[in-house]
Amino acid sequence: MTNNSFHNELAKPMTTQEFIQLSEFIHTQCGIKMPPGKKIMLEARLQKRLKSVGAATFGEYCEYLFNSPHSQEELVQMINAVTTNKTDFFREPGHFHILTDTVLPPFIDPASGNGSCFTVWSAGCSSGEEPYTLAMVLSEFAALHPGFRFSIVATDISTKVLEKAKLGIYDEERIATVPVSIKQKYLMKSKDRGKGQVRITPELRSQICFERVNLMDEQYRRPELLDVVFCRNVIIYFERQNQEKLLGRLCNSLKPGGYLFLGHSETVHGFDLPLQRVTSTVYRKTA
Ligand SMILES: C[S@@+](CC[C@H](N)C(=O)[O-])C[C@H]1O[C@@H](n2cnc3c(N)ncnc32)[C@H](O)[C@@H]1O
Repeated sequence: MTNNSFHNELAKPMTTQEFIQLSEFIHTQCGIKMPPGKKIMLEARLQKRLKSVGAATFGEYCEYLFNSPHSQEELVQMINAVTTNKTDFFREPGHFHILTDTVLPPFIDPASGNGSCFTVWSAGCSSGEEPYTLAMVLSEFAALHPGFRFSIVATDISTKVLEKAKLGIYDEERIATVPVSIKQKYLMKSKDRGKGQVRITPELRSQICFERVNLMDEQYRRPELLDVVFCRNVIIYFERQNQEKLLGRLCNSLKPGGYLFLGHSETVHGFDLPLQRVTSTVYRKTA
């Protein structure tokens, strides 16, 4: 590696060859499509990685990533740098109304014999806002329906966002979308008011199990069948073939009658999947 005299400078632009090598690798590893129009974005997102490993050029970085004893560690860091993790509390709020008004009531109907634990998977959970929103909504439902129990597993490929999610600390601006009564119950203000931060209560944090999972891993199976899968704003970054394969695996992880929630611009249209449409982005497993 070259010395660190370049520290405050940006590396020379990526060559086409380097872009092809990196983009194909990212696509194969995590499904994220990287057409040529993403070259500038990829360069920008990887600048910090070059500095961290002391690489002066993208060529040196590729050597470090593909042909060094540090390849495995760097792969994790590279994926952390290139994933898009935009999320919010109560994002697409209609989904949480569907959960409370349509999905949950049959679950507490004694006639349906459903005394078991309601299970949810937030697949591609980013920094935790989605699974914590689920935990808030399900806790509110449990408060009204004693005996209702739930468990949430939340997974992402990025270790960086998972660390943040486990910590459960957010800037106050991030919680603007959380209804006031819910804020009072499930969020604690930092003792140091100047910090302008809040933390999810320990009880709510303990309701979620966070794990690193690559959704492209065809061998990966949840150990249990689920009642609901949220996989929102994840397949939008995948091309159709990978979308269909992933959606097929998500269907396999649902109980018959279980629900799949996708992001607002995502659809299962054109795919051969055992799903029945509930609304434009909510589906129910048929068999
Ligand atoms: C835009 S965020 C969406 C977060 C949340 N579901 C929401 O809708 O607000 C997409 C997340 O998917 C994750 N992701 C992308 N590719 C993945 C893969 N192959 N396996 C697991 N997670 C992946 C990213 O790291 C990112 O945190």
